[in-house]
Amino acid sequence: MSDLDIEGMRAMTPGCANRNHLNNAGAALLSTVTIAAMTDYLQREALIGGYEAEAEAADQIGATYESLAELIGALPTQIALFDNSTHAWNAACYSVPLGSGDRILTGRNEYGSAVLAYLQLAQRTGAEVVVVPDDDSGQIDVAALADLVDERTRMIGLTWVPTAGGLVNPAAEVGRLARAADVLYLLDATQVVGQFPIDVSAIGCDMLTGTGRKFLRGPRGTGFLYVGPRALDRLDPFVAEIRSATWAGGRSFTWVDGARRFETWEKSYVDVVGLGAAVRQAIDVGLDRVGRRSAALGARLRAGLAQIDGVTVHDLGREKCAIRHRTGGRCGHRRRRSYFAYTQHLDPNAVTLSRRICSLATSAIVRRRLARFIAASGGLARLWCGTLGKSPLGPGSRRAKVRKRPAGAVRPWRCTASDRARRAGPGVLSLCSGYACHYCPFWT
Ligand SMILES: Cc1ncc(COP(=O)(O)O)c(C=O)c1O
Repeated sequence: MSDLDIEGMRAMTPGCANRNHLNNAGAALLSTVTIAAMTDYLQREALIGGYEAEAEAADQIGATYESLAELIGALPTQIALFDNSTHAWNAACYSVPLGSGDRILTGRNEYGSAVLAYLQLAQRTGAEVVVVPDDDSGQIDVAALADLVDERTRMIGLTWVPTAGGLVNPAAEVGRLARAADVLYLLDATQVVGQFPIDVSAIGCDMLTGTGRKFLRGPRGTGFLYVGPRALDRLDPFVAEIRSATWAGGRSFTWVDGARRFETWEKSYVDVVGLGAAVRQAIDVGLDRVGRRSAALGARLRAGLAQIDGVTVHDLGREKCAIRHRTGGRCGHRRRRSYFAYTQHLDPNAVTLSRRICSLATSAIVRRRLARFIAASGGLARLWCGTLGKSPLGPGSRRAKVRKRPAGAVRPWRCTASDRARRAGPGVLSLCSGYACHYCPFWT
């Protein structure tokens, strides 16, 4: 199933010795290479001081920008580093000049923070956020998007691979539309970086965001933004500070060159060198190979689940990936039990494939069938089950409510996963794709 040295990579991942860690797409296990880069750097900080260690490691820090650029087919000057993907995305989105009557076009499967940011931007600027419908497969409807793009459109914002649902949105098709219409295109690639190859020129995005801790296996608290040539001078960086701008005397200032005009001055350089080490390792392993394995593991789990009588797989999209869902989940449907199946941590780079499975409490037979499949899967999947209140997310999961329309929402919100589960009826187990949670509103 793989042309990767799985055992070798496991040996270089200390966490693999103790557990099948099934949450890579949440936050993956670090490799020994990354751990060594970080601990060595931390030692130098402790011994010679933070600024001195930074100066000493200037090449290593520069290499992080270079590796990230190589990973996505960009230039190092087009990369800005952040403490997570959300802040990178905010830096891009809040820098798009918007006014009353302008429009942002976006998809249904956007990350929760993006949805909130869109709502705030709409309130602040009077711009309208238009949610493009999905096509029959569940991916963004490219034809509908083409119809919606007009002279009011300032930006298209899309999540390439959403947090849940297995979906790979047609990022390059959207890129071609954005180019043709000369509209800025912001692509959230948080769940893509490290999962399969990226080439920003081929996709045609102007801004792309990624995180370190998921499929890239970098440290937590790292993220990055790519800003392409078409976007740089059209964006109005949302904050000026001593990293992003230079005082030009009197009452004027100038932005620094390239994407670093979006950065903030202070950083955890331990994390920066750790991120650099992880990215270099991913490039060396080969994103083509990782991508093939990730997709194959995903397909294997889906196929196995689909064979179980009473299990319905509701994955979305024409193209599907190795996406999983986080350990646990939140669902507004309290009476329903929740199930989570995960692929085993077969290789460190590929896949935590897990899909959320919701069932009604009466589906004991199907539960047993599913448990038999999991047991027979040779470690492909594991099952956690319990009631929502006992979800691995802890008591916080109780906070989830069936979605109400938030104040100021431009369109009503809808709990598609719950709808599906309800339609499925008692005794039937639904493997839900979109679901109603704080992170992934699956909005309309
Ligand atoms: C699709 C998607 N976008 C953005 C984010 C946010 O990434 P970060 O937590 O690094 O800000 C996530 C995190 O799970 C995600 O799944």
